[in-house]
Amino acid sequence: MDVVRFGIIGVGGMGNGHARNMPRITEARLTAVCDTSPAALEAARDAYEVPDFDTHIELLDSGLVDAVLIATPHYFHPPIAFDAMRRGIHVISEKPMAVTVSGADAMIEAARETGVVFAVMFQQRAKPIHQAAKRLVDEGRLGPIYRTSLVDAHFRSQAYYDSASWRATWKGEGGGVLLNQAPHGMDIFTWLGGTPSRVNAHVSTFQHHIEVEDEAAALLEYPNGAIGYILETVNEVPTGMRLELCGEKGKLLLDDQGLRFWEVKEGVRAFSDCTDQMWGRPEVIPIEIPVESRRTGHADIVRNVARAILYGDPLISPGSEALSSLELADAMLLSGHRAKPVDIPLDRGEYDAFIAEMQAKSKDKVVEDKRITDPNH
Ligand SMILES: NC(=O)c1ccc[n+]([C@@H]2O[C@H](COP(=O)([O-])OP(=O)(O)OC[C@H]3O[C@@H](n4cnc5c(N)ncnc54)[C@H](O)[C@@H]3O)[C@@H](O)[C@H]2O)c1
Repeated sequence: MDVVRFGIIGVGGMGNGHARNMPRITEARLTAVCDTSPAALEAARDAYEVPDFDTHIELLDSGLVDAVLIATPHYFHPPIAFDAMRRGIHVISEKPMAVTVSGADAMIEAARETGVVFAVMFQQRAKPIHQAAKRLVDEGRLGPIYRTSLVDAHFRSQAYYDSASWRATWKGEGGGVLLNQAPHGMDIFTWLGGTPSRVNAHVSTFQHHIEVEDEAAALLEYPNGAIGYILETVNEVPTGMRLELCGEKGKLLLDDQGLRFWEVKEGVRAFSDCTDQMWGRPEVIPIEIPVESRRTGHADIVRNVARAILYGDPLISPGSEALSSLELADAMLLSGHRAKPVDIPLDRGEYDAFIAEMQAKSKDKVVEDKRITDPNH
């Protein structure tokens, strides 16, 4: 095999984006599409000229695919992934991998049992700037981390929320900004800074007519006593992410200006413990971090998964690592709604009960579904 045959399940906004990218990936070929909406399927049939199926089971049993890319609304990611994995079909799930941590656990377990390649579409990980930041962390250049912060500002209009019946409902989406826009920033945040062990959150529906949160903030505690802060919103312009990690040996800042790193060779605590100078402070050396200028995106993750299947390349965004940001998002939702601190690992039973309660209160939303790919992709 020198090319991986991909089926796309869910050819809406993002699924169509993935389908249009396929011809750019030498190692992958689009061989089938699936959607439960006849209109979406008809449009995809005309656009891509590949066999089309109105259920994912028919696509999986067609013998036409080695791997699938699941781009349906989030609740469908786990059940479709199980059906694929049980047939030995490799999986890329769109983010978030699941709505609940219990669903995510089960996907990771199914991938382990069946031995298929399983990745989550966290395309931001492929960016050279994020890869460079990860190398700094992995090389121990920050030392133990004492403080983290992430301010991750997005903008979504009311028209966006009114564009599909599943969006921004407990029944259809299982959360708001934390489940839809935040996963990329929170993945980079936990990938670089680790997973906190306790979350104290505030969530609110501040500027939109929706039933889920459009803003969330939290104080974070880490196992080593470090603290952190996180803000996720869809209410801001200009948008952008600002991520800081402060450690014993250095400080890292990622924002729209790029990646900056300051080295503290002696160590912050080590200097404090040793100096006899009342106003002494450790030397800080700004370090230039070379970052490749290479455009990246969703196609990089698909290519990486194809190469993992064909040649055993290591995954950029393995499913097992996608749990961390979901665990944080779910912990923030539970903490915010129950007005109490929440520990991580999250109590799976408590979270399932919380989601069931929110779903039971969820109202049906009747709108005409629009499937429009984000032009920024
Ligand atoms: N990685 C990214 O940058 C990125 C960007 C946008 C969306 N997404 C993710 O992609 C997913 C889809 O989002 P979207 O904006 O494309 O939504 P969308 O509503 O535009 O498209 C979803 C499609 O899935 C179809 N569908 C629903 N249930 C199905 C099922 N059981 N089987 C087959 N098809 C089904 C719908 O008919 C629709 O055509 C979400 O999980 C979202 O978080 C990821």
